[in-house]
Amino acid sequence: NWTPDAFADTMIAELKEQLGDDKVILGLSGGVDSTVAAVLINKAIGSNLHCIFVNNGLLRKNEFEEVLASYEGMGLNVKGVDASQRFYDALEGLTDPEDKRKAIGRVFVEVFDDESHKVENAKWLGQGTIYPDVIESVSVNGPSATIKSHHNVGGLPDYMKLKVVEPLRSLFKDGVRRVGKSLDIDPKILGRHPFPGPGLGIRILGEVTAEKVRILQEVDHIWINGLRKHHLYDYVWQAGSMLLPVQSVGVMGDERTYESVVALRAVTSVDGMTADWAELPHEFLKEVSNDIINRVKGVNRVVYDISSKPPATIEWE
Ligand code: XMP
Repeated sequence: NWTPDAFADTMIAELKEQLGDDKVILGLSGGVDSTVAAVLINKAIGSNLHCIFVNNGLLRKNEFEEVLASYEGMGLNVKGVDASQRFYDALEGLTDPEDKRKAIGRVFVEVFDDESHKVENAKWLGQGTIYPDVIESVSVNGPSATIKSHHNVGGLPDYMKLKVVEPLRSLFKDGVRRVGKSLDIDPKILGRHPFPGPGLGIRILGEVTAEKVRILQEVDHIWINGLRKHHLYDYVWQAGSMLLPVQSVGVMGDERTYESVVALRAVTSVDGMTADWAELPHEFLKEVSNDIINRVKGVNRVVYDISSKPPATIEWE
């Protein structure tokens, strides 16, 4: 008879036994899995768990600061590393989606490796791998996915040679959320939509620049806050916005404008493998569209994506 409390108690005891006085390094992504894995390991070994949270400059608006503060509030031994510029430099001139993913993955590995070297005598790499990741072998979300798909770039980084500890390996997402709840993790963290490892980097179609990130962060912020405010956030499985490499003509007062187009995306789904575009109230879409065009400089047109998966994917790149 599985209960989240019993799972947590047993797992913490097992981790204590397995890890003893060893040091563990773990990459936090801000997502549910890495957070719950970190809290479990932290309960077992306290500050011998060294968490690393990397800002790749492609996170949501204020996400790095807010999530870091909540990790600290949870008593995790966490180091926030702002490596935004390194990622922007690596992305310069790249337009192909797979090239962009590879560059983001490569820089993540470099930054994570640099940081993990600062933890002396670490023995273990903690990961938030869950059961579907184990069976699919390629996880779709989180830094563990980035690590897996990019571990062959320039030889194995040192942290990949560590022994791996994965307390959530036997759980599905729903089990992870229930364990997280029984560990008193903030429901706002547990209920978060999935967010891709390459972040806004694959939602800015074409070349990524710091300025485009800033624009998309503003758009995304209005979009996600609007969903929350209208109690639609939990109805939707994932939502995001895309900055298109297209300019369109508009009018503002007496002036003709020629500015960017953004696409809003919201889907309902069970596991992301298939998805339907979310049928959101027109009044709500109207309000969000007006807010975006009035408040975000550089955007004069908003479209809503009405494609389901398959054949469309959730992301545009
Ligand atoms: P698609 O676009 O393939 O997305 O329908 C399915 C789910 O996977 C996420 N996604 C990614 N996650 N790295 C990630 O960590 C990636 O490169 C990546 N591409 C897509 C997407 O956000 C959705 O949840």
